[in-house]
Amino acid sequence: MDSETGGEASKARLRVALLPGDGIGPEVTAQAVKVMKAAASAEGVSVVFNQMPIGGEAIEQTGEPIPERVLAGCQRSDAVFLGAVGGPRWNNLPRAKRPETGLLALRQELGLWANLRPVKMYDPLANASPLRPESLGHGVDMMVVRELSGGLYYGRPSECREEGNGRVAVDTMWYTSRQIERVVRLAFTLAQERRGHLLSVDKANVLSCSRLWREIVDGVVSDYPGVRAEHMYVDAAAAELVLRPHRFDVVVTENMFGDILSDLGGALVGSLGLLPSASLGDDGRGLFEPVHGSAPSLAGQDKANPLGAILSAALLFRYSLPDGRGAGAADRIDCAVLQVLRDGYRTLDLEVSGGRIVGTRAMGDLVVEAIDGGMRNEK
Ligand SMILES: NC(=O)c1ccc[n+]([C@@H]2O[C@H](COP(=O)([O-])OP(=O)(O)OC[C@H]3O[C@@H](n4cnc5c(N)ncnc54)[C@H](O)[C@@H]3O)[C@@H](O)[C@H]2O)c1
Repeated sequence: MDSETGGEASKARLRVALLPGDGIGPEVTAQAVKVMKAAASAEGVSVVFNQMPIGGEAIEQTGEPIPERVLAGCQRSDAVFLGAVGGPRWNNLPRAKRPETGLLALRQELGLWANLRPVKMYDPLANASPLRPESLGHGVDMMVVRELSGGLYYGRPSECREEGNGRVAVDTMWYTSRQIERVVRLAFTLAQERRGHLLSVDKANVLSCSRLWREIVDGVVSDYPGVRAEHMYVDAAAAELVLRPHRFDVVVTENMFGDILSDLGGALVGSLGLLPSASLGDDGRGLFEPVHGSAPSLAGQDKANPLGAILSAALLFRYSLPDGRGAGAADRIDCAVLQVLRDGYRTLDLEVSGGRIVGTRAMGDLVVEAIDGGMRNEK
């Protein structure tokens, strides 16, 4: 299904592969699409969406978690937007046929190796954090840079098998120095653009991969004057995140540690449903998706928080349209989200912070209204 917004020849044109996926994926994706259309139209950008199945939806249609034609469609696009994949219905399928395998295959096919997960405390949501105000200090604003191409999620062997004494399971953590160096250098560059602090998280007291990781960080640090680099074991980093989250600026870490620590970050700022992400590789075509999963217990009830997906749409513009219009559309979305939160609107996951509770669709509409309102004020 192709649909287009805008359309004049002079407009910048962005082809977006749209993969809503499973559970709450389609609901939050629908809100992100509305918001992308509004922000694109405000900036004179034309967006063409090509919607395709992934995960459980694709398994139901084709038997495969990501059909070849979907991979090819993503390759032809300028950016890929994904909702979420997975659910109990597909949990007992063999690994190669599971929804999550489709997402891992997509990341590999697109050559994505850095997953940027900004974790930000919005002032109006300070009371949604489970932390005491004194632990929050001066707020939370960090960028988790998660390595995306290696580690336990891709290393082989990875299997359960029978051995003499019964069943055994093995997973393999595997990293090349090239995989580590490229993501570490990206994190250093981001730290230079931000507050100048880089925390590299590993488990170098136990893991060989972590010792190589540490060596590489130490080997490149002198190329980034002005950045203060620090190492921390992952267990200590988890504790420090809860005790002093305001200390964190850029955090760089391997695949699984990044997956876990960023969910912890989501909890700190009020809800996992708020966190966006951008996965980037060498050729500029990124994958943009909320950090959360398919939240099956919320699916189809208009209860999910769409802001993680909506903020992922902002990242899509920022990274996929590297001219003023991309940054302009992204800024419009970021400002609109802040406006809606300041106006007191909350989805159910943020109920603890008070305010007016609205559903998934209404939250998307409010962000669109705030973008349109911002445009009217400019005229
Ligand atoms: N990138 C992905 O597609 C992705 C990521 C993580 C998990 N998953 C899959 O999602 C399924 C469920 O996994 P899970 O329960 O561990 O993780 P989850 O992120 O779906 O849910 C974790 C918790 O956060 C809540 N939550 C998540 N998103 C929310 C939102 N937008 N608004 C309000 N609340 C929200 C859920 O209700 C649940 O309590 C599994 O099949 C898993 O494999 C997919």
